[in-house]
Amino acid sequence: APLPDLVIVGAGLFGLTIAERCAEELGLRVLILERRHHLGGNAYSERDPETNVEVHKYGAHLFHTSNERVWEYANRFTSFTDYRHRVFGKYQGQVYSLPMNLALINQFFGRSHTPDEARALIAEQSSEIATEDASNLEEKAISLIGRPLYEAFIKGYTAKQWQTDPRELSADIITRLPVRYTFQNGWFSDTYEGLPTEGYTAWLTKMADHPNIEVRLETDFFEVADDYKGKVPIVYTGPVDEYFANSEGRLSWRTVDLEESVVDTDDFQGTGVVNYNDQDVPYTRIIEFKHFHPERERTHLPGKSVIVHEYSRFAEEGDEPYYPVNTADDRAKLLKYRELAKAEPMVLFGGRLGTYKYLDMHMAIGSALSMYDNKLKPHFTEGAELT
Ligand code: FDA
Repeated sequence: APLPDLVIVGAGLFGLTIAERCAEELGLRVLILERRHHLGGNAYSERDPETNVEVHKYGAHLFHTSNERVWEYANRFTSFTDYRHRVFGKYQGQVYSLPMNLALINQFFGRSHTPDEARALIAEQSSEIATEDASNLEEKAISLIGRPLYEAFIKGYTAKQWQTDPRELSADIITRLPVRYTFQNGWFSDTYEGLPTEGYTAWLTKMADHPNIEVRLETDFFEVADDYKGKVPIVYTGPVDEYFANSEGRLSWRTVDLEESVVDTDDFQGTGVVNYNDQDVPYTRIIEFKHFHPERERTHLPGKSVIVHEYSRFAEEGDEPYYPVNTADDRAKLLKYRELAKAEPMVLFGGRLGTYKYLDMHMAIGSALSMYDNKLKPHFTEGAELT
């Protein structure tokens, strides 16, 4: 078969954005190699066959952005519902409204506070430790929000997320812990927010629906690399350490175990996401997917609901890498991989795995559009070098 003009490794949002732009605007023939059995990367979702509820297979995905260009671009492939994300947190038998806000403070301290009273209370409680003196995550959190709120809403959850006592975690994992002195409890504060009306997979499939784009599923790049390396430009969105056969050592990641079940009730928890802040509850959150699409209520099987318990842990070889751990050791390795990546001829590294960065979906799209503008388009239209 003739060589394509461009090979993309990974059919996630980063790879799909590059593919769509190069095929549609430059008329290039693009081949996407994807090792999973589906496209879409971690944003992939499926309708549960029994209940017809859309389930996000790699953890809950909520779209939000303040980037006009990304919003306009995403809307070429899907419309979005008016879903607004809210999160609640359970602690010692009570349910609180997150992120920390006036409703939570009033409920937690058992009486009403005006915004000024709440501000004064938190300022007093957090004066125990000065932020610049904090030598670990626990001290940093106490210096920002005080001990009572830290112990209820940060300590247990963080310990479960990291399987590590917060006193052993680095202070710079958190830079700020926002407390809202209002009753506003929308989880995101971006200009645009919503869920793809027909679901994630319809959106992501439409991005690849172009006569110049071929998606080859269940194909691992490393099995066919010799056919393409050095012969055509490649955009690689897999793990950067894996590309270089872990020559500088493995980068560390956290993963999440997602335990899915169908329960015999119309409504399990009354909302999409409930965090579990008690340390002795082993999971960090429960997701109930039907609440992401209240407008689909009539299409869901009555009397049933799909829920997922999430358990967080360090990723071992073979686990899905989800969140970069980003220790000092990881950062040192990453610098070496970046040097190697820069020197790799005709290969560009992108996306969350290729750059070892947690990227929200809008950031993955935004950075792919920048790579297209700054590297691929100049290369294919003006012959600029690909570095
Ligand atoms: P992504 O990981 O999606 O795609 C990379 C693809 O490359 C994968 O499909 C992989 O199989 C493939 N690949 C890797 N190596 C390969 C090889 N050797 N050969 C062939 N294929 C290979 N964002 C947001 O905006 N709102 C949210 O609520 C969430 N929620 C969320 C929850 C969880 C648990 C996670 C981990 C992430 C989120 N995100 C999110 C982030 C979102 O998932 C992220 O922005 C996108 O996945 C980024 O897309 P990429 O294309 O960079 O990577």
